[in-house]
Amino acid sequence: MASGTVTAFDLSEYAAARRALIEQALESYLKESSPRPLWESMRYSVLSGGKRFRALLCLATAEAVENSDVRQGPIERAMSCACAIEMVHAMSLIHDDLPCMDNDDLRRGKPTNHRVYGEALALLAGDGLLALANEILIRKTPSDVAAATILDLAAELSRATGPDGMVGGQVEDCIATGLMSAGKGSTNAGEDKLSLLESIHKKKTGALLRFSAWSGARLMEASQPVLNMLVRYGDILGIAFQIADDLLDTTGNIQTLGKTPGKDLASGKVTWVTVYGVEGARKALADMEEEGNDVLRQTGFRETAIAPLSALLGYAIHRSN
Ligand code: IPE
Ligand code: IPE
Ligand code: MG
Ligand code: MG
Ligand code: MG
Repeated sequence: MASGTVTAFDLSEYAAARRALIEQALESYLKESSPRPLWESMRYSVLSGGKRFRALLCLATAEAVENSDVRQGPIERAMSCACAIEMVHAMSLIHDDLPCMDNDDLRRGKPTNHRVYGEALALLAGDGLLALANEILIRKTPSDVAAATILDLAAELSRATGPDGMVGGQVEDCIATGLMSAGKGSTNAGEDKLSLLESIHKKKTGALLRFSAWSGARLMEASQPVLNMLVRYGDILGIAFQIADDLLDTTGNIQTLGKTPGKDLASGKVTWVTVYGVEGARKALADMEEEGNDVLRQTGFRETAIAPLSALLGYAIHRSN
């Protein structure tokens, strides 16, 4: 599944076992309720497949931390947070696909949310998922976890989602594409393309992935140096994840991707590929894989704990969808 990892590791088997638990937990948090169309729309986007990469990352860093003071299992401890992240992610996809943004018809091999439920419900389903994610994180995280830790997690998830994170990055993406004005008197003429791209990728995609890597370890009360290291790993992985997405928009096919390729160039997006070309994107990814693995080696984790994290990095970079 992944190449360039620190040790040979069967990510498929590892991911399949955890994905089954993630799907089960998501289903339990999204029991159909009233108003019915809203829940249908929310369930449609959350329970429609997807790689569950962010949830896997959160569980993986929880599992990597050894802390004898924590008696609860890492998966049990981190599952509500992993599901909250997937809900925020689904919300970001629903809104990203709207006609006012990327105007996409296909997501995860199915019609996009607004194509099925209409724009009003798509907007509201996204809003609903954002609020539900917070509620799940706060209310469903096991009571063994200290209230201060839950508060920290809720604040950081909001930060990763908000103006300094995903939402801010989406606005920068829209401005760079010419969909929005940069505002009175502002110009990014002085900003070089690399800084602009790094800023967009770091915020729109990187922030939630960084939170995913940090939150699992935070739930296991990891030490500050370990948390700092995982944030660095998450930052590298986060930008790489979006560069790989940019690459797949050019090199991928509709069946495997489950979304329409070629959209970035057609809609004038500023992506790693439109700026540096396919080879430039591949080179950046190779450098990031090396850098990410270097950071993992510095964590002091056992080799068996590093292996899944390294494999997830490799997967983010070499994936085909
Ligand atoms: C797609 O994310 C949007 C980006 C931030 C690049 P994923 O590639 O993780 O989408 P799913 O969840 O697997 O469908
Ligand atoms: C989306 O980036 C990032 C989000 C926050 C959803 P893209 O617009 O490139 O994601 P895809 O290609 O539609 O999945
Ligand atoms: Mg977009
Ligand atoms: Mg898009
Ligand atoms: Mg894309």
